[in-house]
Amino acid sequence: MKSSHSNIKKAKKYLDNNHCVAVPTETVYGLAANAYSNVAVKKIFKLKKRPLNNPLIIHYYNINNLEKDCIISKNFIKLYNKFSPGPITYILKLKKNSKISKFATNNKKSVAVRFPKHSLFRNLLKKLDYPLAAPSANISSKLSSVKVSDVKEEFGSKLRYVLDGGKSKIGIESTIINLIDNPTLLRYGGLEINKIEKFLNKKISININSKKKISPGLFPIHYSPGVPLRINVKKPTNDEAYVLIKKKNFFSKNFYYLTRRKNLKEAAKNLYSVLRKIKRDGYKKIAIEKIPNIGLGKTINDRIIRASKF
Ligand code: TXA
Ligand code: MG
Repeated sequence: MKSSHSNIKKAKKYLDNNHCVAVPTETVYGLAANAYSNVAVKKIFKLKKRPLNNPLIIHYYNINNLEKDCIISKNFIKLYNKFSPGPITYILKLKKNSKISKFATNNKKSVAVRFPKHSLFRNLLKKLDYPLAAPSANISSKLSSVKVSDVKEEFGSKLRYVLDGGKSKIGIESTIINLIDNPTLLRYGGLEINKIEKFLNKKISININSKKKISPGLFPIHYSPGVPLRINVKKPTNDEAYVLIKKKNFFSKNFYYLTRRKNLKEAAKNLYSVLRKIKRDGYKKIAIEKIPNIGLGKTINDRIIRASKF
C-alpha cells in the first residue's frame, strides 16, 4: 500500500532524528525511539512520566540483529523459532559491547527483547539500522493504548507522530519470560503460559511480584483506569459500570461487554478499550464479573487485580 509506505517513511524520519513515534503492535501500541541513542530513549521516559529505574523492551526485526547486543541461549532459540514474531518478550543477558542505551536497560546486565508481529511495525524495523526501545504508549501506570485515538488521549500534541496500524489484534501486553536461568514468568501476557509449558514440556515458575524489583510487579498500581474497580462482582451497585463476559437476558445501560460468549481472547482484546469507554461515559466506579482463571483469563485477571489496587 502506497499510503502505508509513505507513513513508514515519515516515522523513520522522526526516529532517525531521535524523536519518539507511537507504533502499532499486535499486543498494544508502543512509544518507540532509537534504542542505541541516550537522547532518544530519555525522551520516552519524559513523555511517559516513567521512573528511570523501570527498563524498556527492545524491539528487533529478527534474531540476526539481536546477536550484536545479547547473549543467545538454547532455550531462547527454541522459543524464538516457535513463538516469534509474536506476543512474547525474553529477558536475556546483555553483551558487554552492546550499543543499547544504558537508560533503556537501567544499567542492568540483562535486557528485555521482543519481535513484534504487526506488519507495519515489522516493515519499519526492517528499514532501520537500530532496534527500537518501546514501552506501552500510555502515561506511566495508566491503561495501555490499543488504537490511535487512545495514544492521542494519552499524549495529545506532545507526541509528534503516531503510525496508524488499526486496532491491536491481541489488545493486551506481551508475556515476559526470564531466560537467564531456568525460564520463569515475569508477566502474564498475550501468549498463554500453558502453550509455552506444553512446548518446553515443563512447568514454568511464576515470579510476577518479585520483591527483588527485577520484574514488572515493581509497581503494584499498574494498568489503572483512574477510578476504583472491584473484581469478581456478582451484583453491581447502580452507580457502577458493570463489565461482563457472558450475555445477560436483559439490558441495562451500565452493562459493558468484553465478550458476549465467554471468549477470553475477545475479552482480552476489548479490555482496555472498554475500560477507557467507561471512563469517557463518566462512571466513577467499575465492577467486573468473575473471569475464569484459564488461558488469557489469567492475563486479564492479572491486569484487573492490579487495577483494583488503585
Ligand atoms: O506488548 C508489549 O510488551 C508492549 C509492546 C509495546 O511491545 N510493551 C510493553 O512495555 O508492555 P512496558 O514498558 O509497558 O512493559 C515492559 C515491562 C516493564 O514492566 C519492565 O519492568 C519489564 O518489562 N522489563 C524490562 N526490562 C526488564 C529486565 N531486564 N528484567 C525484567 N523486567 C524487565
Ligand atoms: Mg506498560
